[in-house]
Amino acid sequence: MTTESAQEFYGRWARLYDFVARRTPGIAGLRSRAAAACRLEPGDTVVEMGCGTGANLPYLRERVGPEGTVVGIDFTRPVLERARAATAASDNVHVLRGDATQPPIGRDGNGALDAVADGNAIDAVLATFVVGMLADPAGAVDDWCDLVGPDGTVVLANAARSREWYAPPVNAVFRAIVVLSTPPTTQLRYENEPHLRLDEKIDAAHARLRERAVAVADETHVFGVVRLTAGRLE
Ligand SMILES: C[S@@+](CC[C@H](N)C(=O)[O-])C[C@H]1O[C@@H](n2cnc3c(N)ncnc32)[C@H](O)[C@@H]1O
Repeated sequence: MTTESAQEFYGRWARLYDFVARRTPGIAGLRSRAAAACRLEPGDTVVEMGCGTGANLPYLRERVGPEGTVVGIDFTRPVLERARAATAASDNVHVLRGDATQPPIGRDGNGALDAVADGNAIDAVLATFVVGMLADPAGAVDDWCDLVGPDGTVVLANAARSREWYAPPVNAVFRAIVVLSTPPTTQLRYENEPHLRLDEKIDAAHARLRERAVAVADETHVFGVVRLTAGRLE
């Protein structure tokens, strides 16, 4: 998926995506679990890459409390507008337009953290259902690992083919969902199946996080389709 087609797709379907992102059965528990895996303390700073309509932001805000800072980054304007509207009441939740592979947050030439992070170290980076859309998912994970401070955490959650014993019917449904949600949605046969490309990208991203981290927690959810990896950095 190119940058333009991703922005066009999520921009056009922002309202529907928002509904799915918040109301899919089981999704609230998964988002709460992903926020918990970030190992945040009150007052911490957390950045969500590809925050979409902001469905994770309330869970992150709850973890860092009123003294902490939550930053959501996404490059699709209509989804960001929904995220901004949903978090308008919290002045410590910032929603920024930018590319998750070159996040508009980080250290300046002197190593100081910029204004959005209020000069604080970034304690955690979260990315849910995003790395499968990146050209170089492992490279992005490397950059996110570099962005968090000492003892920081990077958490990835992604949908990929199940590896459970009951996987075949689950994976058939998963393939249909991926094909329908990958532009163009009209093709029935692909030379390079989108759900297999997605799996490769997700494997590469989670593997890189495991390599970089000094401690790793791996979990699966929703019949093994959602993989969550949390890595603590040095
Ligand atoms: C499947 S949605 C997931 C949104 C959110 N993380 C969630 O869990 O609901 C993927 C989001 O990633 C964003 N995205 C994809 N690639 C991006 C990039 N390189 N930089 C910023 N946002 C990106 C898209 O605009 C879209 O909002």
